[in-house]
Amino acid sequence: MSNCKVIALTNQKGGVGKTTTAVNLGVALAQQGKKVLLIDADAQANLTMSLGYGRPDDLSDTLSSIMQDVIDDNPVNVQKAILHHDEGVDLLPSNIELSGLEVRLINAISRESVLKTCINEVKKNYDTILIDCMPSLGMLTINALAAADSVVIPTQPHYLSAKGLELLLRSVLVLVYKCGQEKLNNLYYQMKEQRR
Ligand SMILES: Nc1ncnc2c1ncn2[C@@H]1O[C@H](COP(=O)(O)OP(=O)(O)OP(=O)(O)O)[C@@H](O)[C@H]1O
Ligand SMILES: [Mg+2]
Repeated sequence: MSNCKVIALTNQKGGVGKTTTAVNLGVALAQQGKKVLLIDADAQANLTMSLGYGRPDDLSDTLSSIMQDVIDDNPVNVQKAILHHDEGVDLLPSNIELSGLEVRLINAISRESVLKTCINEVKKNYDTILIDCMPSLGMLTINALAAADSVVIPTQPHYLSAKGLELLLRSVLVLVYKCGQEKLNNLYYQMKEQRR
């Protein structure tokens, strides 16, 4: 059995530091000798671009093409889409095609577990897999939550951010109930502000 830990960085609120945390946490773990895979599960491809791939739409093998293979019941080769970065982390990149895939997921068989099927293919190669989610509670985020052993929720210490968390925590709890998974809900405050 694999000892790999799969962690989803999620919050449906935008701009709270999900991608920044994914990059920094991933590189820090790699510097400690861990084998790390970063998965860009956001069609904005911010994680892919943060790691230096400035034209993600030119990539032919991405998370969306791999997930499409799972949906179509084609042979799945996750390895072919993985990029090796100089900082010592691997990246499963994304691009704008992921937004089209999210629509196609709606009618897919076992639609919550398509990402989990992809991850299971490569889990044995890694100590930690970090999934950078998009700012929504759509099918891709549900896939990330279903694939994750634990969830990290970067958030800002603001009233409206805290209200948004109620909805997210409810989704996590529904998944824990339905999929029988044990999730560790880490709430982690980003962007502390100094008040005078
Ligand atoms: N701890 C921090 N302190 C100050 N600024 C931060 C911190 N973390 C991230 N930022 C900045 O906040 C902005 C949003 O960060 P980031 O893109 O990581 O958020 P995100 O949650 O991934 O956004 P999205 O929801 O659009 O994917 C960026 O400009 C980033 O540099
Ligand atoms: Mg992001």
